Amino acid sequence: MKLERIENGEDRKKADALVLPCWIDNKRIKLAVAIDQSLKGLINPFLDLNDFKAKEGEVVFLYRDKAKGEEQRILLLGLGDKTKLTTESLRCSYGALIKYCLPKKYATLNIAVPPTSDFNTIEGLRGVVEGLLLTNYLFTDLKGKSLDEHPASTVKEIRLIGVSSDELHLAKRLLTVAEGIYLARDLVNGNADTINPAYLSKVAQAIAKKHSTIELKILNKNEILKNNLHLLAAVSRGASVDPAFIVMKYKGNIKSKEHVILVGKGVTYDTGGLNLKPTGGIETMKCDMAGAATCLGLMQVVAELKLKVNFSVVIPATENAIDARSFKPGDVYSSYDGTTVEMTNSDAEGRLILADGLAYAVKNLKPTILMDIATLTGAIDIALGPEATGLMCSDDQLAKKLIESGNQTYERVWRMPLFAEYKDRLKSDIADIKSWNGRQGSSNVAATFLHHFVGDKIPWAHFDIASTAFLSEPRKYQPKYGTGVGIRLLINFLEGLKK
Ligand code: BES
Ligand code: ZN
Ligand code: ZN
Repeated sequence: MKLERIENGEDRKKADALVLPCWIDNKRIKLAVAIDQSLKGLINPFLDLNDFKAKEGEVVFLYRDKAKGEEQRILLLGLGDKTKLTTESLRCSYGALIKYCLPKKYATLNIAVPPTSDFNTIEGLRGVVEGLLLTNYLFTDLKGKSLDEHPASTVKEIRLIGVSSDELHLAKRLLTVAEGIYLARDLVNGNADTINPAYLSKVAQAIAKKHSTIELKILNKNEILKNNLHLLAAVSRGASVDPAFIVMKYKGNIKSKEHVILVGKGVTYDTGGLNLKPTGGIETMKCDMAGAATCLGLMQVVAELKLKVNFSVVIPATENAIDARSFKPGDVYSSYDGTTVEMTNSDAEGRLILADGLAYAVKNLKPTILMDIATLTGAIDIALGPEATGLMCSDDQLAKKLIESGNQTYERVWRMPLFAEYKDRLKSDIADIKSWNGRQGSSNVAATFLHHFVGDKIPWAHFDIASTAFLSEPRKYQPKYGTGVGIRLLINFLEGLKK
């Protein structure tokens, strides 16, 4: 994907279509951009017909005479009421435009952007560009002949009309972020038999190879056992593929002691283990490495943008398979930090591998802020649905910042409680702690289990993305299936850390 700019009035390169935004201004439908007279003469009579209402995301198609300009196709794009424009409404409108274009296979678009004086410059432009880029994604790797019958392809070049060179610079940064999101989506959407722990390791290697600012360490099956990552080893027992424990360290600010660490759940397929998932619950479980995908996408973006932060990711990766060797519900294994865990349900595997990942980070990596991201519980989907990610946080200040980043990026998070009483639910008669104790409040109890391995000294946040990482229906500018959720929120958070 290429992003360029065209100054107002400048000759435009040929494109498959010209996009002209319109809004409702004082109850009248008006072009939201300044355009040349001949175009105005062409468009205005159509606007007067009043068929096109300029509603948010409404698209109308017009042809024009070749002699009259560079583009023969014109798309009028509705932005809704001028006074009600927000970053999010612009994401939705420009997202709807791309949705319209994908099946038409337009390769190049000249897209007019409303003058920045008409809405908050940077936030408005952010909405426009994010709407375009987040929607401009297709996953067609697993398509065969049907792709010939129903072709679709992404837009390859977008030229933004009327933006300054500084604004183009911001747009290009947003493209870098979007590319990290595409990577995360591809990893979630790929076959589980392909995207296994070894594949995640290869992706980590490729990112580290490109950036000397990243230090990479990968523990293999033997090293996982030797290093006492016994919970990860237990979950991997039933799998025919080896687990991996991936640690990537990015140093962007050697002067700072601040070190943000994100642990991502990398269950490349979750059958549930011996507590096998039923039909209706198992089919989407290739998505259970979405936390890991977010970590890898983030690492790529952070390194490409050369953020002035110290940021690491830790990815415990394994399949949770059913097999004669699978770990047995009721058995006790000890974790990386020596806590013995009664593993009461083999389908509660995410918290086990995260416990090892978190304890490893605490002991070896000196985090000043520790976070984890995981498709952890079905219950969070019942509580929040695809509208928000669950946030559990041990530190009010950190929670405030994350909620703020969530609101700004519209990757909204909703804080759930970590009541002290939840700890009682995790008391075990035969071990130090049990991993699961029934359905009540299960997202919060799962988070309480994770908290045990972090302790109270380090500010810690947990994102439960089971409701937001994988969509059964497309939403606004998000396509169906893998979303890459969390990347925009955490880039916003990392950029906001004081230097
Ligand atoms: N991977 C699942 C959680 C999940 C559910 C992710 C739906 C995405 C969509 C997790 O490992 C799991 O199985 N959780 C169980 C826990 C319980 C049954 C032991 C759950 O929340 O249902
Ligand atoms: Zn599970
Ligand atoms: Zn799982």
